[in-house]
Amino acid sequence: MNTEEMYQMMKQKLERVVPDVELRIKAEIAVEINKLKKEKNAVILGHNYMEPALYYSIPDFVGDSLELSRKAAETDKDIIVFCGVKFMAETAKILNPTKTVLIPSSKAGCSLAASITAEDVRALKRKFPGVPVVTYVNTYADVKAESDICCTSGNAVAVVESLKSDTIIFLPDEYLAGNVARETGKHIVFPSKGVGGLQFDTTLDYQMIGWNGRCEVHEKFTVQDIKNVREQFPDVVILAHPECSPEVVAASDFSASTTAMIRYVKETKAPHYLILTECSMGDNIAAANPDKEMLRLCSVRCPHMNTITMEDTLEALKQIRYVVEVPEEIRVRAYQAVQRMISIG
Ligand code: 13P
Ligand code: SF4
Repeated sequence: MNTEEMYQMMKQKLERVVPDVELRIKAEIAVEINKLKKEKNAVILGHNYMEPALYYSIPDFVGDSLELSRKAAETDKDIIVFCGVKFMAETAKILNPTKTVLIPSSKAGCSLAASITAEDVRALKRKFPGVPVVTYVNTYADVKAESDICCTSGNAVAVVESLKSDTIIFLPDEYLAGNVARETGKHIVFPSKGVGGLQFDTTLDYQMIGWNGRCEVHEKFTVQDIKNVREQFPDVVILAHPECSPEVVAASDFSASTTAMIRYVKETKAPHYLILTECSMGDNIAAANPDKEMLRLCSVRCPHMNTITMEDTLEALKQIRYVVEVPEEIRVRAYQAVQRMISIG
């Protein structure tokens, strides 16, 4: 595709959400990226949170964490360029270790992944011996290596239900854990930092043990926000990612992974939609559904996803940077946990 064709293709999708002058610049970069992608036998995976111009031009596949893990595991290309955050690129390396995995920015972290260390998991296992550990994929490889099974927002309930255990440890997202507990009818306890390390009120009846990690984007949405929007737009349909608080999820109409939210808007017909998740995804949905009215309640972009730009994706392919590595001893143990999750579906 030449630059003019790329520009026309992007314009058709994005003229209502991206200024024309920017589209022209991005179309040029996209053509360069696609040329290099072919020359270097690379595949580009793009998370649903990528900014619209990137999302609609260069990825071979877009999707949520679970879908992109599957694509990473299946690819026969030499290079995987992961337009997402570091834990996602690490998961690609864990699943397909002979490939070169690149992430366009070295700063694409995640507040959930930063909330827990491998030593924290080991301490929990010492405190609750024999209790299976479920870890959200929004964690680094060494934390996954300490876990029995991983989950994503797309399969967390199925993963928990697949474990035939009276009690499970579910890490590290406090809100996702609370939402899973609510959906599966389990009671959950969370740690408080006391004298002598982690304290849990184990006098309570509980079936899940959680952690106090939070997504810095989703924790910002409140029930009051929802009330305000419903007052102004009584016919609005509200979708909330399960990293929002259980109260916010309960006050919404639908909650699921990023791809499931995209599909929901596509397949339903409501007068207004409000999507409680990362800002760019709202733009991507608006671009794909010009006949539907999307309301905005978006003051924050994920600062980590925001570091992934088309300019840096081009540099990643030119310079073969930043290469994602996972030490083999950690990778093989993390692989067990991720693979178990993938086989659940
Ligand atoms: P999904 O797996 O639903 O795409 O979510 C990933 C994420 O980081 C949400 O903040
Ligand atoms: Fe992490 Fe939240 Fe950003 Fe997702 S939106 S990558 S959970 S900080």
